[in-house]
Amino acid sequence: MSNPLAADLDTLRKIVESTANHGRFAQEFHLTPPVGWLNDPNGLAQLDDTFHAYFQYSPFNAAGGVKMWGHSTSQDMVIWNYEGTALYPDQPFDVGGVYSGSALVEDDGTMHVFYTGNVKREDTEGYDYVMSGREANTIHVTSKDGQNFSHKRLVLDNADYPEDDTNHVRDPKVWRSGKKYYMVQGARRKDDTGEVLVFESDDLDKWHLVNRITSDEPFGYMWECPDYFEVADDARGDIAQILSVSPQGLRGGDWDRRNVYQSGYFVLQGDVLSECKLNPFALWDAGFDFYAPQTFETVGGRRILIGWMGMPDEKYYSNLTVEDGWQHCFTIPREITARNGRILQMPVRELERYRHNGRFSDAALRVEDTKCFDMEVVGIQSREFKATIADELVLTWESGRFAMRFTNQGEKSVGAGRMQRFERLDYLNKVRVVGDASSIEVFVNDGVLAFSTRYYPTTYSVDVKAPSAEIRIWDIQA
Ligand code: FRU
Repeated sequence: MSNPLAADLDTLRKIVESTANHGRFAQEFHLTPPVGWLNDPNGLAQLDDTFHAYFQYSPFNAAGGVKMWGHSTSQDMVIWNYEGTALYPDQPFDVGGVYSGSALVEDDGTMHVFYTGNVKREDTEGYDYVMSGREANTIHVTSKDGQNFSHKRLVLDNADYPEDDTNHVRDPKVWRSGKKYYMVQGARRKDDTGEVLVFESDDLDKWHLVNRITSDEPFGYMWECPDYFEVADDARGDIAQILSVSPQGLRGGDWDRRNVYQSGYFVLQGDVLSECKLNPFALWDAGFDFYAPQTFETVGGRRILIGWMGMPDEKYYSNLTVEDGWQHCFTIPREITARNGRILQMPVRELERYRHNGRFSDAALRVEDTKCFDMEVVGIQSREFKATIADELVLTWESGRFAMRFTNQGEKSVGAGRMQRFERLDYLNKVRVVGDASSIEVFVNDGVLAFSTRYYPTTYSVDVKAPSAEIRIWDIQA
């Protein structure tokens, strides 16, 4: 490592990682940071047989700090191996953090990574870091193995973004279509509305703006982490065009009972590169801990989404893992499909290979010691469904609502301050719940709704009551 700043960061990172001990809430099959803090998934890609996931990583502080890209690999998207740090903030154009970005794998096997080099200039002018004082540099690097990267090339900077945008422009997500390359970036306009910028390129280095997409009515002040992809709807015989964004600043109505920031998608009508309209926004996940997801396509053509199972700037609940020097993890990777105009997400099918010790029952089941489990409740016909996890996390379907609620809302309780999340649901047929040592992910009706949460039990159990339904629960042995 020729850059002395990167070399010293590397040495220090290894020192802190050597002290890591995740304690009793260590996750067994969710990607976690070795030490310190993790946020967004970045650079998701498959190179040959190996899946690569990078993550926003601050090893020196479990409450967050300067961001670099941690790197993990997997053969099946269930078991992840930490590989080290791939990108350090070591250049004038990214010294404030190697922020989020994405990867594109060319046919020759070269991985092209684009990320935001964040810079906050020293405050000599009274900067507010919204209108002034912040650089959002778009950087391009390449790799053959996913771990060693070329020198960093600056391909876009503030001067390349529209004049009516603030300094908040970031999170490039790239894809190829025919002979051209495209990139979306999230932005905050000077009138405090969020938008997506769409760029085009012939060579991955020279990019020009071709479109700006926003909703008819203002929808939050900033859209982070945009993603654009298409999924075939085989039932309807068409293609769903999905624009995923993480809006900040949604207020009023139902937004006030939800998380501080949201992640969801608009089905897009028209052409992402020119005239298009956005259908109503739908949440990816209505639980307490979900933000900044990114998708990628596997070699076999599956569209996989991974979210950050965490929430930035959250005042009311916390994560008890901070006491053990680490915080946050990714969701289980989820397959995205479309059926009859509905977008569905379910855990990657590879998870089922880790199911052992199945227990089955009709109507009611209680199982103890369920630290890592996978549960399905199918054929729910009556109006009654209730699942209680670790005696404090209750899932119900009542009065047209599917709800996730912690019965004890103390700071050090199982939910560490989390209270209740719910969504309207007229009809309940199936529920799938995936539990790891400190997370629960719930998928309702084949993944029409999802709810993710971190939780911190002292003893594990699952108790289900669902008259006339089939209940199946397995241990996950990862
Ligand atoms: C989303 C986000 C991104 C940014 C990154 C910095 O959580 O704010 O917009 O690139 O985190 O860590």
